[in-house]
Amino acid sequence: EENAFVRSELQRLTLRQKAGQMTQVAVDLVFEGPTYVLTVPPVFSEERLNRIVGELEIGSLLNVPSRSIPTPEEYHDYIGRLQAKAMETTGIPILYGQDAVHGANYVRGSTLFAQPLGVAASFNTELARELARITAYELKAASIPWNFSPAMDVGRHPAWPRTWESFGEDPYLNQQFGLAMLQGYQQNDVADRHSVVACLKHFTGYGAPRSGHDRTPAYLPERQLREYYLPQFRTAIDSGALTVMVNSGEINGVPVHTSKELLTDILRGELGFEGLLVSDWQDVRYLYERHKVATNLKEAVKMAIDAGLDMSMTAVTTDFPEMVVELVQEGDLSESRIDTSVARILAVKVALGLYEKHLWDPAEFPDFGSEKFGRKALQSAEEAIVLLKNDGLPLPISPEKRILVVGPTADNMRSLNGGWTYSWQGEKADDYLADYHTIREALEIEFPDRVTYLEGASFDTLKNVDAAVTAAEEVDILVVCLGELSYTEDPGNLNSLILPEAQRNLFQQLHATGKPIVLVMAAGRPRLMSGMANRSRAVLFAPYPGPRGGDAIAGILSGRVNPSGRLPLTYPRHPNALLSYDHKATEARNGGFNPLFEFGAGLSYTDFRYSELELSSRVMNPDDSLEVSLRVTNEGDRAGKHAVLLFTSDLVASVTPSVNRLRKFTKLHLEPGEYRDITFTLTPEDLSFIGRDNRPVTEPGTFRITVGELSEEFDYED
Ligand code: IFM
Repeated sequence: EENAFVRSELQRLTLRQKAGQMTQVAVDLVFEGPTYVLTVPPVFSEERLNRIVGELEIGSLLNVPSRSIPTPEEYHDYIGRLQAKAMETTGIPILYGQDAVHGANYVRGSTLFAQPLGVAASFNTELARELARITAYELKAASIPWNFSPAMDVGRHPAWPRTWESFGEDPYLNQQFGLAMLQGYQQNDVADRHSVVACLKHFTGYGAPRSGHDRTPAYLPERQLREYYLPQFRTAIDSGALTVMVNSGEINGVPVHTSKELLTDILRGELGFEGLLVSDWQDVRYLYERHKVATNLKEAVKMAIDAGLDMSMTAVTTDFPEMVVELVQEGDLSESRIDTSVARILAVKVALGLYEKHLWDPAEFPDFGSEKFGRKALQSAEEAIVLLKNDGLPLPISPEKRILVVGPTADNMRSLNGGWTYSWQGEKADDYLADYHTIREALEIEFPDRVTYLEGASFDTLKNVDAAVTAAEEVDILVVCLGELSYTEDPGNLNSLILPEAQRNLFQQLHATGKPIVLVMAAGRPRLMSGMANRSRAVLFAPYPGPRGGDAIAGILSGRVNPSGRLPLTYPRHPNALLSYDHKATEARNGGFNPLFEFGAGLSYTDFRYSELELSSRVMNPDDSLEVSLRVTNEGDRAGKHAVLLFTSDLVASVTPSVNRLRKFTKLHLEPGEYRDITFTLTPEDLSFIGRDNRPVTEPGTFRITVGELSEEFDYED
């Protein structure tokens, strides 16, 4: 029935209108006035609206008016006008999308959570599902039905400026968290008034640029592609993902936006994707402007559509639809090819029920920005933070201790929130999140009258460091907060993971006082802390825990909160040793793999002990599964949460095996003295790898299972 409706729509539409459906533009185009002036409310322009939606008949918009961040009521007003105009001209509702990557981060007053890397550090997929559900609810309160999330990029280069937008370096983690977020966004039915359509991104291999810079070439042999960069998309597509965004980069010399092999043969043919494929920002245009594979825009448009693209995200506003029309008229693209894309786009609009309803009354969403949702934001922050070191147990800090909190991330909301926080680069966080607590403010609340704050250094310049050193002499413990500001995409490119000299210098001078140091690294990627971690008594990694991050850090430092985060990536020790945990055996020889902190590292204030690791059998056959059970006991005197991680190692294989691979995980809460018996089920597929013929294979032989310090072996026989 839906198909029949879409077919009849195609018959009704002119070629021009179809081209308009394939075009997405930034919502800024319907507003007037200066950009990025917070105090000036967005001024909606009827004239611009007439041009964009009336004349050009554009079918999709994205983003937020950059003049200020609208409330749900303000969205209701201007989206109402957009939709009314669209219904009046084409009769087709607009599909409006945003990057709500850690909550509805472009809607004023919404609930903001930890960023994806922090969510992955929680190893809590239930929490991820819940955060996505709340995000969908709050987007819908603003009448936004499409979310450009989850990013399922496996972050394989730690300097990549979108490392924090990924679920870390491991494909299984990306698969599991991507799936949980997808389910949270779409629920069981995208037409539900509390659901939005998710967008899997960025297909594929985006997180593996050779240079570590955003949108730069990746070189991925087919085996690598299939091992690391396809399975997570396959799972999410099987689970009902309706839209996918293309990787802006190039793989093996081919810009992904021109790769028929990836976008059609693999994505649609092999992975069975039937939904809407959208480009990334201006990427059709970049085919000739940056990648140099086309001589002009028209050629680029043809290339991308031939490869399989359905919708262009801001090519050149007016040129894209015009060129689609010309290409068809000149016989370079068939109208039936255009119809295929338009049908996919309309199918998403139909699935969302937008034809019937495309505007929601904010009053119907009473939980928007509620305290109830806020508690989840706090939980996400608490579970995102990873306690990496606690030597001689300086933590928790006892209440009578005098504390100096110092450093560039101590009093900075941007370092807690990351990018996509009220603006692309997150620079509006300080204004819009002024009611939330920075680390310094939260510590002042947590330890009344015990806290002194001095900046000591900005991100790259020393500031009154002498005063900080003098103040350090007067206190019992130093909380040194280093790290990064917010950023995303190219502006976050980095040539060295080493922290700027000023921050290292500040640390050295404070260390020279002999006072115990708690180092808080607030950053979106593993900025190196060698030479500092070993001189600190305790180390915390705070991977953009969100606006409640300050409260969470203060709670962990006081002991009110028991930390439970674990690293979703390998924390390097050296600038040129950037291997992931699942490296090959030869790479570890001669000190080749000696990270500062391993993947999965993360301490608690209580002691969890594993025992009784048992396998249901010593032999697994192709149709079998294997039960792996163990007991986890909280032997300490505090309640705590704990993630259990199960790794497998293929001891001998025809393709050199990784030393180990994460296959399962689960998160528990245990009271003091409590234990839980848990069982993981492994199937032959869990033991497979991409073989010499580039197909998945599970080879006979011995496998080792490792959980913490325990391990057992079994044989796979076929
Ligand atoms: O969704 C994003 C993408 O991740 C990066 N470029 C811009 C898109 C839309 O904002």
